[in-house]
Amino acid sequence: MKRPDVEVRTLSAHVGEEVTVTGWVGSTRVHGRVAFLDVRDGTGVVQAVVVKKQVAPTVWDAHAILTKESAVAVTGTVRVEPRAPGGHELEVSGLEVTGQASDYPIQPKEHGVDFLLDHRHLWLRSSLQWAGLRVRAEVEQAVHDFFYQRGFVRIDSPILTGAIGEHAGTLFQTDYFEEKAYLAQTGQLYGEAAAAAFRKIYTFGPTFRAEKSKTRRHLTEFWMVEPEVAFLDSEGNMRLQEELVSYLVERALERCADELELLERDTGKLGSVRPPFHRISYADAVARLAGMGREIEWGADLGAPDEVALTEGLDRPLFVYNYPKEVKAFYMKENPDDRRTALCNDCLAPEGHGEIVGGSQREDDLERLLARIREEGLPEEAYDWYLDLRRYGSFPHSGFGLGVERTVAWITGRPHVREMIPFPRLMNRLKP
Ligand code: 4AD
Ligand code: MG
Repeated sequence: MKRPDVEVRTLSAHVGEEVTVTGWVGSTRVHGRVAFLDVRDGTGVVQAVVVKKQVAPTVWDAHAILTKESAVAVTGTVRVEPRAPGGHELEVSGLEVTGQASDYPIQPKEHGVDFLLDHRHLWLRSSLQWAGLRVRAEVEQAVHDFFYQRGFVRIDSPILTGAIGEHAGTLFQTDYFEEKAYLAQTGQLYGEAAAAAFRKIYTFGPTFRAEKSKTRRHLTEFWMVEPEVAFLDSEGNMRLQEELVSYLVERALERCADELELLERDTGKLGSVRPPFHRISYADAVARLAGMGREIEWGADLGAPDEVALTEGLDRPLFVYNYPKEVKAFYMKENPDDRRTALCNDCLAPEGHGEIVGGSQREDDLERLLARIREEGLPEEAYDWYLDLRRYGSFPHSGFGLGVERTVAWITGRPHVREMIPFPRLMNRLKP
């Protein structure tokens, strides 16, 4: 019977054995009668060594036709080799080419980013992309583990919706039989309904914003995790955020050390990310920014450069809390101590990454919520069910949304969110 293929990440358990590795050829080098092939199998990279006098002529000839990204099955004995990537090499006895590749478009040279995004289906194979998306997968798993351990129920909220979740300005609209539907900007409103049924819930899914901005922080489709907790106030909400964010960082440091090294992430900068995070009120943040010579007045939203300035040199994220109501969404609870502001916060990551989380206590007073819906000019009839939550046992509650791509960009130290999602959707990009 044919032995099963061995995954490269498990090679240390097979030292001295003859195994078969299946994967794709990276770089190849020939020194006279010895050839070296890097074989990538999706779990890691191993160096395969073909010695002409030790293999059948067909095997030696096969290596000669191997071009980058050809698919192969390589059989050989596993040896410890500290100088090889991954610490092992294969002393090749057999080599089968299962899929020849010719003229692979991505070459080891500088390519423009548009070219790389056009070839995203292939670019995924490149080591930095591979590493970044593995960190993403670990962070997503850590999100589930964090909430599962704390007894939260995962709720799948709809993607097609009739209610505007955040702002009217960035909606994707589609026909829905006789009606209009939008792609969800958030799962939050449904999360609030579920919090009254299950107490502690989270939603986790794709969300959509027709952002007409081309920045390194905006996608039109991004993934968001949104917990919602009954009887939690804004203060407790910030504590939950700092616990979650710290846990995600810790998990990446613990389980993605190899990936972060490949990405050349200075992990020392993540070592002190733990509660409590830094805190500043919006009013104090505006004063501090004005003191730095930035042009900002009370009432204006903070821009990306303001966020960068506020977090300059910080060892962990910063909460900016209680923004003016006008710059935030309609559902945020009015601050009883200063009615111009809402009980809300943004969580800003250091090193120039800016907002990774937005959260708030929700308006639980029916009349005030209705007034905000009217002030924003939102269609009241779409919110009748949402208002029911204030009619039938209204309760204080809070929640937040953590953007997966922005969080992973910060943890991996990569500048652009477009590399943090397998197939980014941008204003000018729907392909591949
Ligand atoms: O601050 P936002 O808009 O908050 C909400 O959607 C709330 N409903 C969340 C809640 O309270 N349940 O978005 C939350 C986070 C941001 O902090 C950011 O990380 C991410 O979602 N985000 C984006 N990420 C990538 N591209 C975009 N266009 C994003 N817009 C928001
Ligand atoms: Mg926000």
